[in-house]
Amino acid sequence: MANSDIPNFSSHGCAIPAIGFGTGAMTGGMSVEAVAAALAAGYRHIDTARKYGTEREVGEAMRGSGVPRQDIFLTTKVSHENLRPADFARSVDESLRALQVDYVDLLLVHWPNPQIDVAEYMPALAKAKRAGLARHIGVANFTTALLDQAIALCPEPLVALQAEYHPYLDQSKLLAAVRRHGLVFIAYCPLGRGRLFNDSVLNEIAQARGRSVAQIALRWLLQQDVASIPFSSKPERIADNFNVFDFTLSDEEMKRISALKRADGRVANPAGRVPGGWD
Ligand SMILES: NC(=O)c1ccc[n+]([C@@H]2O[C@H](COP(=O)([O-])OP(=O)(O)OC[C@H]3O[C@@H](n4cnc5c(N)ncnc54)[C@H](OP(=O)(O)O)[C@@H]3O)[C@@H](O)[C@H]2O)c1
Repeated sequence: MANSDIPNFSSHGCAIPAIGFGTGAMTGGMSVEAVAAALAAGYRHIDTARKYGTEREVGEAMRGSGVPRQDIFLTTKVSHENLRPADFARSVDESLRALQVDYVDLLLVHWPNPQIDVAEYMPALAKAKRAGLARHIGVANFTTALLDQAIALCPEPLVALQAEYHPYLDQSKLLAAVRRHGLVFIAYCPLGRGRLFNDSVLNEIAQARGRSVAQIALRWLLQQDVASIPFSSKPERIADNFNVFDFTLSDEEMKRISALKRADGRVANPAGRVPGGWD
């Protein structure tokens, strides 16, 4: 399957496959075999980061898959410790070497850093793009205020914002900002890192439709034009999570799922990482 056959969301000429495979697993089990299973199941969007320590495995699985490099939408990220320009360039070089690729499709700032001004690193991000090391650029874990600043300060267009999003976390403000700027929203922890599976409403909808809870959660994101990057270590779940393009949730089901948001829904929240706090 070429990545053009998979539903995608676009910004500034960049088409991002709607379902990708996350490789920043907190639960262990991330392996060359898991990425290979994702590619075999049809995924053409793979999400890694320097910080995850999974770039070598991702590169190995890509090379072993027989899928042409240009058919895979590959994302990596520069972590918050490496945002000063010299560190930034070194981190990108290290990523490309570990992945054994000449470019990534999307390069993201992984997290903001309250000690380093956005004005310092947006030019470094744009420079990586202009040098051909990244086809497209974006940010992750930015608030609406930081996103406004980043866009104003970056000499190249941003195409995506990656942030946590699932039925337990209200991201309506951030989603509105992302849409206003014409970016693609990529949801990480789209399954709430496993917390959604006992939810009674999700289970009820899943049962009524003969689908899994994971598929219902991913479909809810898809119908908001949000891409997502679920992880699983298990080939059957990896395939299940990709199989969400052949059914539609009703407006009523969408509303019931949106109503599941909770004040304590956030899963990824390292202390002191986000200047000014979350939206
Ligand atoms: N930009 C950032 O700061 C950031 C932060 C966090 C995550 N991310 C990215 O987002 C990706 C996804 O997030 P995540 O891995 O933390 O959480 P997630 O995808 O929401 O959930 C993964 C968990 O759900 C389980 N699971 C997956 N599919 C399942 C299914 N069909 N049925 C039952 N259980 C299932 C997995 O367990 P099994 O392995 O047992 O199936 C795993 O424990 C990461 O891998 C990473 O690439 C980015």
